[in-house]
Amino acid sequence: MEEIHKSKLFSAIQPSGAVTIGNYIGAIKNWVRLQDEYECFFAAADLHAITVKQEAAQLRKNTFDLMALFVACGVDPEKCVLFVQSHVSAHCELTWVLNTITYPGELSRMTQFKDKSARHAENVNMGLMDYPVLMAADILLYQAALVPVGADQKQHLELSRDLAMRFNNRYGETFTVPEPYILKDSGARIMSLADPSKKMSKSDENPNGFITMSDDRDTILRKFKRAVTDSDSQVRYAPEEKPGVSNLLTIYHVFTGKSIADCEKDFAGKGYGDFKLAVGETVADALAPIQQEKARLLKEKDYMNDILKQGAENAFRTARRTLSKVYRKVGFYSGE
Ligand code: TRP
Repeated sequence: MEEIHKSKLFSAIQPSGAVTIGNYIGAIKNWVRLQDEYECFFAAADLHAITVKQEAAQLRKNTFDLMALFVACGVDPEKCVLFVQSHVSAHCELTWVLNTITYPGELSRMTQFKDKSARHAENVNMGLMDYPVLMAADILLYQAALVPVGADQKQHLELSRDLAMRFNNRYGETFTVPEPYILKDSGARIMSLADPSKKMSKSDENPNGFITMSDDRDTILRKFKRAVTDSDSQVRYAPEEKPGVSNLLTIYHVFTGKSIADCEKDFAGKGYGDFKLAVGETVADALAPIQQEKARLLKEKDYMNDILKQGAENAFRTARRTLSKVYRKVGFYSGE
């Protein structure tokens, strides 16, 4: 029988607290679709998370929680390799080697490093600076051809490509040079409900700006009720002119699967009150089964731990192959 080789794909999310519906739409929802088409590796990037201050017990909880959320959303451990980054030591080991072909200037000019250094001025550390190299190691270890990322990670992916090519040039063909995978709904950037000029983010100091995957129905309805719109009264998609209403339409579109035009039709002649309530109800209805399944999985500790153990073993099997090749190329003595 002919063996079909699917392209490899890698992506990860940091277990650093609440996951918003923006993360869900931008990443997890797409993973579920991609797992049938590609050989997927998905991780909770806990090594990345500690580049900013984390409380140990909270990080542990967030990591387990994120894994349960992935599975509850439909990321299928039978179809893809689902694991915790720190369970596979090869990520750190490859980072070290890649560090030796990375220039400090490349890292200090990264937009996210500059932003995070400003936001965490009391804790600017080497890990924060090295963050994109660790990300390159994540990707290159699995010879991933494709990496689904949001716009904010494109610069980091560019570095991964540069490092792959640089290593290949210096030591001979070793790494697949990854391509960014621009997601179907990447146009569907979800904005803050409180300030639709900003991306929806869990670090928004106004909790009404974001909906998390664990918000209950009342909270969701309340936040949508308070969502900023405009002084007009038409439910119409016009991101420049009507950013608040357009954002709500986008959310409604993503959760119902209807076209934007059909979404507009649903609210023709209706006021913003009805509109916001309908969007809130749609989101609450979509999240309820995910929340139920996640709650069930959180109690199935043995089952979840088994998935993570299997995931780490499978990830390691692939990662080890690349790491051995790298170690051989750079000239580490292996006793043979
Ligand atoms: N830095 C990514 C983020 O915060 C998460 C991440 C870690 C990642 N390693 C990765 C994404 C490798 C894609 C590929 O969104």
